[in-house]
Amino acid sequence: MRIVVLVSGTGSNLQAVIDAVKAGELDVEIAAVGADREDTFGVQRSADAGLETFVVNFNSFETRAEWDAALTAKVASYQPDVVVSSGFMRIVSPEFIDTFGGKYLNTHPALLPAFPGAHGVRDALAYGVKVTGCTVHWADAGVDTGPIIAQEAVTVLPEDDQDSLHERIKVVERRLLVQTLGELASRTIPSPN
Ligand code: GAR
Repeated sequence: MRIVVLVSGTGSNLQAVIDAVKAGELDVEIAAVGADREDTFGVQRSADAGLETFVVNFNSFETRAEWDAALTAKVASYQPDVVVSSGFMRIVSPEFIDTFGGKYLNTHPALLPAFPGAHGVRDALAYGVKVTGCTVHWADAGVDTGPIIAQEAVTVLPEDDQDSLHERIKVVERRLLVQTLGELASRTIPSPN
């Protein structure tokens, strides 16, 4: 199974995938890692790992549609079986998702459909929930919407701030992402279409 991974930031979840592949624990080929902006640590760490990388800079395009078309073409050039949004903080078009047969996987640091968006951890803390968690799901063109594949709860501790809670969520999120990719590769769980 060939995957292209999209990142916008540090890519620590991506690193878990890279590590699992290198350790022989995950039978997927990371065809490329792409970002929507320059100078992300996610792309840097991928290049350091010897992976193919690319940037389709959102700010280099006049319109979202032009950026989306360029991203679609670039990702498609790697002929992935599954595209993974691993902290990729841009909405993509229905056309993007259709190009990859609906196989656009996303991870989110909250128990969807609660607390979607770019601030899932902050929003859950602000609401005062005692339990939050993470979700791996097939993404549609909405904000963190689409069929859920896996979820796991994480308890909010009284002393938690956003960073401490997010870090504990990410520990679980990394495991769920690697596990889900493994299940997809071995066809233990079905594809969306
Ligand atoms: C992850 O927690 C991911 O779920 C979140 O960004 C973080 C990226 O961390 N994504 C979203 O909030 C999407 N709405 P990383 O760059 O260290 O892997």
